[in-house]
Amino acid sequence: MRILVLHGPNLNLLGIREPQLYGTASLDEINKRIMQWANREGIEADIRQSNLEGELVTWIQEAIGRYQGIVINPAAYTHTSIALRDAIVSAGIPTVEVHLSNIYRREPFRHQSFIAGVAVGQVSGFGSDSYLLGLQAIVEHLRKGRPSKS
Ligand code: DQA
Repeated sequence: MRILVLHGPNLNLLGIREPQLYGTASLDEINKRIMQWANREGIEADIRQSNLEGELVTWIQEAIGRYQGIVINPAAYTHTSIALRDAIVSAGIPTVEVHLSNIYRREPFRHQSFIAGVAVGQVSGFGSDSYLLGLQAIVEHLRKGRPSKS
């Protein structure tokens, strides 16, 4: 099973960026944990980060036929990007949305996600564990063969 893990804008600054909100782990450290989890589970995971909306859209399109699932932290694009939402729908690849912080405990503009309505589900608020929980969720979902829109 191949899973694509996508990190959106500013997540390359994890560790130094607002550590009170996002924790002190760097993106490299989080990625190492993701790879360790994937290896233990026998999952192939590819991880990418971009600050560019269009690049994320392209990667989602290119995932068609190559990945069975996507775990994405769209970061600020969560709250703005219809393009990312459309890409997820167009690709038809079951996707789990993850956030380090609990977006519903923060500013009102973060309460809206353009992604949640087309995702299998969302994990929000567990720090870097959100990625591992999201991975677990997508893998279980795919193993059970649930339809992506249920
Ligand atoms: C975030 C939450 C977003 O609102 C914010 O723009 C981010 C990070 C999170 O992981 O908690 O960049 O996606």
